[in-house]
Amino acid sequence: MPNVRSTYTDSIRFFGKEDPRELAARFGTPLYVYNETVLRQRCRELKELSSHPGFTVNYSAKANTNLAILRIIREEGCVVDAMSPGELRMDMLAGFPAEHITYISNNISREEMRNAIDHQVLMSVDSLSQLEQYGQLNPGGKVMVRFNPGIGTGHHRKVVTAGKETKFGVTPDSMDRVFAILDAHNLTLAGINQHIGSLFMTPDGYLNAAEFLLHLAEGLPAERLAALEVIDFGGGFGIPYRKYDGEARLDMNELGTRLHALISAWAARTGYAGRFFVEPGRYAVAECGVLLGGAHCVKNNGENRYVGTDIGFNVLVRPAMYDSFHDVEIYRENGTPDEACQEQSIVGNICESGDVLAKKRPLPEIREGDVLGILDAGAYGYVMASTYNQRPRPAEVMITADGTARLIRRRETVDDLLRCYEGLQ
Ligand code: LLP
Repeated sequence: MPNVRSTYTDSIRFFGKEDPRELAARFGTPLYVYNETVLRQRCRELKELSSHPGFTVNYSAKANTNLAILRIIREEGCVVDAMSPGELRMDMLAGFPAEHITYISNNISREEMRNAIDHQVLMSVDSLSQLEQYGQLNPGGKVMVRFNPGIGTGHHRKVVTAGKETKFGVTPDSMDRVFAILDAHNLTLAGINQHIGSLFMTPDGYLNAAEFLLHLAEGLPAERLAALEVIDFGGGFGIPYRKYDGEARLDMNELGTRLHALISAWAARTGYAGRFFVEPGRYAVAECGVLLGGAHCVKNNGENRYVGTDIGFNVLVRPAMYDSFHDVEIYRENGTPDEACQEQSIVGNICESGDVLAKKRPLPEIREGDVLGILDAGAYGYVMASTYNQRPRPAEVMITADGTARLIRRRETVDDLLRCYEGLQ
């Protein structure tokens, strides 16, 4: 059935045997729809970056913690990170054993630290003070330390996670103090890690940062380098959000070839026999997700055309929070592909003027009753959704490998939102 704008999802048969309008009718909107085949494909691309025996894809669960998604990522042979007790719980429920989970912590309480220690997962600490606390809680244990390489990158200043203007990591000039704390508590430095920021589209910055971390490792005293089990370069692998403009993909072949050469040569030179982690979130899951919403109202305020939908920033916050661009598809019964575009702003149903999903976007005319598909919504979509304005969070469905849809999380209800009040259920 022709749609007004759907050539991208059509070209990859994103909806399998299903139709987006029918999915919207069956499960309601807003609705997160994921495609299993795309997810598996992205995991495989990541795993193929290097054939070095220690090379490991450590999926960063913060991007999407739906259990069905985590299970597929586990089946694809990735390990996983966690950065909160909730993520740790989800990782374990998805079947990851403790030795396949790293806890990449940041300013956590002693209770939270204790919880991770009790679950016997390797933890990375992010400051000297937390290293000291870790030593007190788990003397004689193993720990990772996150370093700040001094240069960050990212698609928005809010997602740059290295450099002096960010809160992250220990600066390498504190190495002597790191050693002193390790020794005071008989801790083994089992890993070093970093994460420079989110969304790079060319390999150079990431590879430079990887070299930095290898250089730092090489500067360790021989017995400490010999005890190192993990060198974790972090995530940040970008995806092209401007699908309809033909934006180029990150060249995974080039990145993989260069990364593989770097780590293989370094391991051969230093005798390092441990693992090398990459820690991508977005790359694994962003493109396997399309968010469906309904166009409920169309109006003009002066010269500006507004399309009012149920996709407020409670459902997808990235545009409001980072001015992020997500491409939009338009599904209409018996629609005709329409080349004539006009500027339209797509907005949500939240009572704030910042509730804008797409600003003054040239698109074919959107009409009341259309179903919209917001592309690349699988990463930092549902996980960042909120219940603002007392709107329950959406449902999630998976287009499985056989092309049919399966509900993988039901829609929240207002009763779910009331569960924390005593005496109201
Ligand atoms: N490792 C650490 C320690 C991280 O903090 C992050 C992301 C990752 C790995 C995974 O990064 P990725 O490969 O997904 O870029 N909410 C923002 C992105 C925030 C990323 C936070 N940290 C967004 O929607 O663009």
